[in-house]
Amino acid sequence: MRPVLASLIFVFSLAVASANDASFDAAPAKPVSFKFQKKAPAAPAADDRLWITVKASGAESRETIVNTGISLEEISSDEVSGVGNARMAERLKSLGIKFKAVPLTQRFHMQDFPAEDAAFHNYARLTSDLQGLVAQSNGLASLFSIGRGWAGDKDIWCLRLNSSAHGVEKSDRPAIVYMGTHHAREHLSTEVPLLLAKYLIENRAKPEIASLLAKRDVYFIPMVNPDGAEYDIATGQYRMHRKNVRANDGGSVGVDLNRNYGYHWGEGGSSAEPDSDIYHGPSAFSEPETQAIKKFIEDRLDTMKVVLTFHSFSELILYPWGHKNGPIDDTRAQTAYETMAKTMAQWNGYTPEHSSDLYIASGDTTDWAWGAHKIFAFTFELTPKSMWDGGFYPGAGAISSTFAANLKPALYLLDLADDPYRAAGGNLSSSNVKSTLTANGGR
Ligand code: ARG
Ligand code: ZN
Repeated sequence: MRPVLASLIFVFSLAVASANDASFDAAPAKPVSFKFQKKAPAAPAADDRLWITVKASGAESRETIVNTGISLEEISSDEVSGVGNARMAERLKSLGIKFKAVPLTQRFHMQDFPAEDAAFHNYARLTSDLQGLVAQSNGLASLFSIGRGWAGDKDIWCLRLNSSAHGVEKSDRPAIVYMGTHHAREHLSTEVPLLLAKYLIENRAKPEIASLLAKRDVYFIPMVNPDGAEYDIATGQYRMHRKNVRANDGGSVGVDLNRNYGYHWGEGGSSAEPDSDIYHGPSAFSEPETQAIKKFIEDRLDTMKVVLTFHSFSELILYPWGHKNGPIDDTRAQTAYETMAKTMAQWNGYTPEHSSDLYIASGDTTDWAWGAHKIFAFTFELTPKSMWDGGFYPGAGAISSTFAANLKPALYLLDLADDPYRAAGGNLSSSNVKSTLTANGGR
């Protein structure tokens, strides 16, 4: 037995950042009232979330913290921070865990999406750019909706690259899907799959790309959570919204879509409380967004081999398990996963690890894809490394460099999608891809 709590407890002596900060050694007995006004007029309830910082090292300590309902966002070797509320702060207190808490909306200056970050795609621009890509693709690309978000008025778009099968037509080719923006505020995770689709379409005549595209069925779902993405920017100021927009009992907004998948749903690292940022929803696959992904994948089970789901931030390459510690029990698959993650990490410079080494979380996309269907599934946490480098809002300058860093990993998975177990054997089968990867340079 390891002394979990001992490693968590520390005396807080961090400087108070400003006179308005609600810093305290332990949670207050009653909910604190903070001196800030939420600027968002459309918000159904005041944003009472707290940015909570705890001295903690190791995955075990982090597990204790996520199980209070706090969504961990910033992890360093000896300290973690994340989003919670006064009730969750109370739980830390009763566990004897010292912490610091400040109102979330006060801690981070929310930027102006349209002015500074106009290069990012909102739902309308995404829709028209996807249509534009289809138009310029000369029959390679097609676009279809896999369903709609919770609000019911926005399609979850899927762009497909396959010159011989369009829309939802069947194909025998091995398939891969790249997804983005399960989490509303992770706008960069829409840009990367979108730029990847654009790159493949624009370079479709290059021999090495042509030969890859000719043997694969390639899908992109760049905005899994269109309602959430719009909600995050709707006031002209970022709301730091994570979830979808389900109207929860009690007035809070949203279910964490990356806790709503139906494999070990509702276990560790997810919360039953609607106002938690890691609320798992009323039941597994309760949300239209996760239902749409489930149906999309299950309609293609015979060919779908690889899932890459982009999130931000932290610069990580994550693979199952996430809901429990330890490796998956298929050693050949485990070797393949490790080899793939390490290989890709050489190119994008990210850290490869089991999802659970970050922290335990149940109900995420990759655990379900692997656990329920043995589809190789990775989560990339994109740029930057830390909240202090921009966190969820790194600015438009991050878009092209983040895409460039992840091009080789994305092409590598595309090549392996006929049989990802090949990775365990060491070599790529396609010499074309090898030369593409070499020619493109990269980190
Ligand atoms: N940061 C993402 C999330 O919280 C990725 C989680 C990956 N899974 C895990 N078990 N840590 O949803
Ligand atoms: Zn995320």
